[in-house]
Amino acid sequence: MVVSYLGTKGGTGTTTLAVNGAADIRRLTRKPTVIVDLKTGPGDVSLFLGLRPRHSVLDAIDHLSWMDPGAVSKYVVHHECGLHVLAAGDEFGRPASRDVDGIEQMLRCLNALYDFVIVDIGSTLSTCGAMALQLSETVMLVANPDVPCLRNLQRLVDAVKLTGVGGDRLKIVLNRASEFGVLSTGQIERVLGLSIDYSVNSDYRTVASAVNSGVPVSALRGSAELHQQLDAIARSLSGVRTGRGRRDAGEHAEDEASGVAARHQL
Ligand SMILES: Nc1ncnc2c1ncn2[C@@H]1O[C@H](COP(=O)(O)OP(=O)(O)OP(=O)(O)O)[C@@H](O)[C@H]1O
Ligand SMILES: [Mg+2]
Repeated sequence: MVVSYLGTKGGTGTTTLAVNGAADIRRLTRKPTVIVDLKTGPGDVSLFLGLRPRHSVLDAIDHLSWMDPGAVSKYVVHHECGLHVLAAGDEFGRPASRDVDGIEQMLRCLNALYDFVIVDIGSTLSTCGAMALQLSETVMLVANPDVPCLRNLQRLVDAVKLTGVGGDRLKIVLNRASEFGVLSTGQIERVLGLSIDYSVNSDYRTVASAVNSGVPVSALRGSAELHQQLDAIARSLSGVRTGRGRRDAGEHAEDEASGVAARHQL
């Protein structure tokens, strides 16, 4: 199953939600899960997980045509939580339109190898991003409750539908829902005529500390509400309705590792 995350504007938290969605799906299901950083230019997924990948999406698409498709796995890097990561390349402007066939082939290969393929598209609906949307069972549109973002959301919903993605595959996530306090979820839904499928509270301390430690939010202590909201999204996407609780065996917090990990990353 492919799940894509698309931001309605830069900085809405697309990478944060994609990384945590992927890590939580892996934690809950224990099934092979990979996150692909499809953002054009240098992406943040591997940085958010404290990884230093040797290979990228660009290496994979540049070599896949002559390789055994199964060899795409040689380009992924493994995080200690069990999640696999295919990082963005360093080249600005790629993947570009000419890479769309390679991206399609790569995503199809990954979909055959993994139970869950999570894609961070970024906030630009490029040709390659549109390809990922078409292959996705679910598209998560990430918005913040501010006017520019909500205006873009309305337009993006239409643009995504034009790529052939039906409304039933589209889910709207309101990130930092608690922060601004000006527009309530109800107000937003009434004005846009769209329903918000998921809300995630603002908790910069926890989110930033997870990034500084190179671990998902579920590996840290923090606001119970944030944990519960992220967990609920992953359960809904993966179909895991009941579970063993947030901090499953073998996946305990690396809370105290943050200082060391942050230094390592820098
Ligand atoms: N729920 C949240 N609460 C508080 N801060 C958050 C939350 N989600 C994301 N952030 C913060 O917002 C900033 C942007 O997040 P992130 O990089 O995930 O956004 P993005 O949409 O992927 O950005 P870009 O357009 O650069 O790819 C980061 O500093 C992140 O820590
Ligand atoms: Mg991002």
